[in-house]
Amino acid sequence: MTIMSYDIKNQKLPSPFFFQLFYIFDLSNIMKTFVFASFIAAITVKLVVGQSPTSISGAPTYVPQNNFPWKNKYPTPLSVPEIKPEWASLVKNDTVPQAPVNIKGPDGSLLPPAPGATDTYCHWSFYQCLKPTDIASCQKGNWAVTYDDGPSPYSSKLYDYLKENNIKATFFVIGGQVVQYPDLLKRLYDDGHEIALHTWSHQLLTSQTNEEIIAELKWTELAVKEVIGVSPRLMRPPYGDIDDRVREVLKQLGFIPVIWSADTTDWKLASGAIDVATIQNTVKGWAANASTATQGGISLEHDITEKGVEIAIQSLPVLKGAYNLTLTSQCGNMSHEAIYKEHQDQSSSSPNSVSPNATPSNDGVDSFALMKTSLMLTAIALLVMLFL
Ligand SMILES: *[C@@H]1O[C@H](CO)[C@@H](O)[C@H](O)[C@H]1NC(C)=O
Ligand SMILES: *[C@@H]1O[C@H](CO)[C@@H](O)[C@H](O)[C@H]1NC(C)=O
Ligand SMILES: *[C@@H]1O[C@H](CO)[C@@H](O)[C@H](O)[C@H]1NC(C)=O
Ligand SMILES: *[C@@H]1O[C@H](CO)[C@@H](O)[C@H](O)[C@H]1NC(C)=O
Ligand SMILES: [Zn+2]
Repeated sequence: MTIMSYDIKNQKLPSPFFFQLFYIFDLSNIMKTFVFASFIAAITVKLVVGQSPTSISGAPTYVPQNNFPWKNKYPTPLSVPEIKPEWASLVKNDTVPQAPVNIKGPDGSLLPPAPGATDTYCHWSFYQCLKPTDIASCQKGNWAVTYDDGPSPYSSKLYDYLKENNIKATFFVIGGQVVQYPDLLKRLYDDGHEIALHTWSHQLLTSQTNEEIIAELKWTELAVKEVIGVSPRLMRPPYGDIDDRVREVLKQLGFIPVIWSADTTDWKLASGAIDVATIQNTVKGWAANASTATQGGISLEHDITEKGVEIAIQSLPVLKGAYNLTLTSQCGNMSHEAIYKEHQDQSSSSPNSVSPNATPSNDGVDSFALMKTSLMLTAIALLVMLFL
């Protein structure tokens, strides 16, 4: 039996964002706390269903449930994936703008543009340049809450709150997280939230070749489709890093980029560079501006740390008091159904007529029935082992 463990400390993580996040976890302590539970669960699953599960590092409350019957073999979570040969022809390379592939510095961030350089390719990260096809804000009075980088073991608390308060949100998920927490993704979809893509390994896309961008998106799409039965069209480039080359690759792959208009900068909580009170004030500012602002908004938050989830929950009543909480699809003048490739031809919604009641297609439902059965058996076996 092999117990796979994604040791984040030993993994090459070129993005500063992930460095900041993962260095705050004391993995050795977490391992001490959870290795026993994981071990018991692993043995139990092995005994009961004869499968090798994945143990989880850095998980506070999550019980490993990785007996999802994957049909495909996926790249290691958070590693830069290779393109599948059959995906290369999806993008006509010679019709893609020849913007240079941006270079990263030693700290993993993009080297700044040369002094006096101009924004030839509508680069958002440096120049906040947007194209009309980018979804980046919302109609006046409307606000879409979005959460990036999950699913994670911390997410469930947020999912519960959203469900109890009947709020729908958009989740930009990372492929490497989806294959570790497929049951969390399925729950999100079943709860009526919008599922969108946030790449496989969270790279700066303008620093990647066309082929690398294809691989990031297609692997993530494949994993998501395996779990929920549909393929998202909405995607968010990590760090908002997009230019016209990346836009064209995304377009040819059938994806629509979503940026944001309001950033909580909750990711700075991990390093202590920002505190909860400051974020609360930022959110109160957005709410206070609702009546005078010419537009609504799309906010950026993350559901991958305990504090991040806490502040996300605290922000919701504030925003709800000032705006109609709506979905990213509406901000982009799309129907809720049309955000999946399989239902792409469904008509646009008029503002404020969101009906977030997607029914999952049968694809994937069967797999989950199987998974639920396995999980039940695992739970029973665990109890038996503990009490004998
Ligand atoms: C929310 O939507 C309703 C109905 O569509 C509208 O009357 C109201 O003005 C909107 N709220 C805000 C804060 O704009
Ligand atoms: C375009 O395709 C060529 C040949 O496959 C490849 O070498 C090149 O890297 C591609 N361009 C980009 C920007 O990815
Ligand atoms: C609110 O609006 C004011 C004036 O338009 C602007 O200066 C301020 O940045 C806005 N605050 C937020 C949090 O958006
Ligand atoms: C949605 O429609 C509004 C009004 O026609 C327009 O201003 C806005 O740019 C559109 N948004 C997108 C992303 O197409
Ligand atoms: Zn992200």
